[in-house]
Amino acid sequence: MEMELREKFEAAGQGGVFKYFDSLCDAERDALLAQLGQVDLKELGGLVDSLVLGNGKSEAFDFSGLEPAPYKILPPDKSSDPEWSEAKRVGEEAIRSGRLAAFVVAGGQGTRLGFDAPKGLFKVTPVKGKSLFQVFAEKILSASRKYGVSIPWLVMTSHINDARTRAFFEENNFFGLKKEDVIFFKQGLMPAVTPRGEIILEEKGKIAMTPDGHGGCLRAMFRSGALEELKRRGIDCISYFQVDNPLVNIIDPYFLGFHILGKSEMSSKMIPKAYPLEKVGHFCMKDGKLCVVEYSDLPKSYQEQREADGRLRFVAGSVAIHILDRGFVERLGGGASGEGLPFHRADKKIPFVGEDGNVVKPDKPNGIKFEMFVFDALPMAKDPVVIEGARGDEFSPVKNAEGVDSPATCKADQKKQFARWLASVGKSVPLDADGIPSIDLEISPLFASCGEDFVSAWNSLETKPDIADGMYI
Ligand code: UD1
Repeated sequence: MEMELREKFEAAGQGGVFKYFDSLCDAERDALLAQLGQVDLKELGGLVDSLVLGNGKSEAFDFSGLEPAPYKILPPDKSSDPEWSEAKRVGEEAIRSGRLAAFVVAGGQGTRLGFDAPKGLFKVTPVKGKSLFQVFAEKILSASRKYGVSIPWLVMTSHINDARTRAFFEENNFFGLKKEDVIFFKQGLMPAVTPRGEIILEEKGKIAMTPDGHGGCLRAMFRSGALEELKRRGIDCISYFQVDNPLVNIIDPYFLGFHILGKSEMSSKMIPKAYPLEKVGHFCMKDGKLCVVEYSDLPKSYQEQREADGRLRFVAGSVAIHILDRGFVERLGGGASGEGLPFHRADKKIPFVGEDGNVVKPDKPNGIKFEMFVFDALPMAKDPVVIEGARGDEFSPVKNAEGVDSPATCKADQKKQFARWLASVGKSVPLDADGIPSIDLEISPLFASCGEDFVSAWNSLETKPDIADGMYI
């Protein structure tokens, strides 16, 4: 095996990975060979040519003819709108008949937040300090109770956080979910390379392998057998969300209904941008296809463009909430059709073995990693549907330690949502000058996970709690 791999790597210009091979012990050699055996040299060679040696030119986006994407506008009261009510009916029927699974991508490293554990363990709620994973689990549990059906939950981890994530679920008894309904799988890895395109040795007997981006979920779902498991359970719709957003409406019958009625292979939620330069992806149309253009790629002039009436032209922000059709994931993730997601390059600090043979931790980016983005599947999807969501009910991510999208803004948004629900049953919550509840309060997803359910849950309470600091229902 060693000779065969040596020849293959040398032929591909990657013989450097064997630099210290002769100085390694048997176990280290076996480990390195096993790692090398996982590398797809053909794929890597193509990426090095296009994204590294070609200096990322092939990634340059042509903005000519770029248009804002159409979307279903959220009516003031969706429960009394005929089209939205019909979507809800269809969505609820599909949930009840067991066609839906939830899916969180949780393989990221959460570097910006500066939290030294898998991000799903981060405590977010205002009173109980529940973790992100607990909030999601309780939303799924509450929906499965409501609809009388088990709703499996796929959790994508990475090699860096898989063991800790699984242990957290075990320690917490899966937050009341059935263990067999939580399906973990790891995302794939890609070798990281130098600006000359050579695979980086992170240790003498170990190449630097980094997670392949959230878009890696399509092939990871396929390769891990998770997709097969969904098929066995008769599931054809997958509700995709990110680990950083506790407001997400995971089991949303309206969204699912529009996806089914539109015969869509991949549907998305948009939220109007809060301000022109908000750091979100933008739903656009390019050559007749729906796509997402990242804020970092869309020129500022486009982000700021306005319609004659003053509205933002590229207003549709992507909040990374999608519904994926299982057959579509099979087609793209299995790669049999030749379709697959493109890779993007990201310049990162990657530890490497220095000239003197010692490991160096660089203080500025020295290497390139390759990532796929799930939204790049949209242009390949048949009849993609985009619907509008309400920010206050769907989106408040925890991304940064302070400032925008931080634990503080997320807590404030959760409290504002709970206060709105209480207001709908005639209970007022004291607010500060910024309109944020001045007391801490929390409503468990197990009590209600949307405004509509809150009203009936509240009305059925025999003794109503007082609105006071620390209130928890
Ligand atoms: C992302 C989107 C952006 C969207 C915003 C909404 C990208 C490039 N951008 O930005 O369009 O408007 O969210 O909040 O995605 N993850 C993995 N494996 C990986 C990398 C990431 O599972 O290899 C997961 C993370 O755990 C997280 C999610 O993907 O759940 C998002 O990752 P992150 O890198 O934080 O995306 P953003 O830059 O915040």
